[in-house]
Amino acid sequence: MLITALTQSIEYLAGRSRLVYALMGLYYKSIIRQEAHLAGISSKDKILCIGGGPCPYTAILLHKLTGAPVTVIDNNRFCVQKSLGLIKRLNLQDEIKVLCSEGENIDCHGFSVIHLAMQISPKEKVLKRLLGDAQEGAKILVRMPKPVVKGFYCNISCNPFSKGCVAHHLFANIDSTALFVKEGFPFEAAF
Ligand SMILES: C[S@@+](CC[C@H](N)C(=O)[O-])C[C@H]1O[C@@H](n2cnc3c(N)ncnc32)[C@H](O)[C@@H]1O
Repeated sequence: MLITALTQSIEYLAGRSRLVYALMGLYYKSIIRQEAHLAGISSKDKILCIGGGPCPYTAILLHKLTGAPVTVIDNNRFCVQKSLGLIKRLNLQDEIKVLCSEGENIDCHGFSVIHLAMQISPKEKVLKRLLGDAQEGAKILVRMPKPVVKGFYCNISCNPFSKGCVAHHLFANIDSTALFVKEGFPFEAAF
């Protein structure tokens, strides 16, 4: 998708320039704080971030805010390579692991919090898979686009099982983040 390529290019620059990294922080900080609060994340959680890009800012800040270890995946090898370099430069390699994997194939066992970036595609397929396979009680955070930019992203058609959501600031293309909780029933049949 064009929007994914554009975001990856900006993030690639963020991994190389402190100024762009700081600007990215201005965009993301309040969003990620609200997400951590919505899911009640603590240092006892294990976080999986799906779609880290070349600069996995969400993974980095979720770890810094909560102390929880994070595994971040991306299905683009170039992004994973750049992301690994950045995590190493920040000396966070013991706390944040970066892997190349498809969101729809990842083994999500053992993760108590799972975060889906806005550019994830196919988003509904990935969410259904997670709600089927994740451990009971796992919290899944899903970013939703603002209506004006909805056409640029892969979306989920309905969210009847959302347990809550937070709205984000006016200047973000992310409208809100929805929270899903894995319940102890077969999700596939109910979606
Ligand atoms: C550009 S990033 C945005 C995330 C941002 N860096 C953050 O910290 O929140 C979104 C990434 O999701 C990846 N992606 C999209 N669909 C995916 C999928 N099904 N599985 C794994 N990664 C995916 C893209 O390759 C892209 O690099």
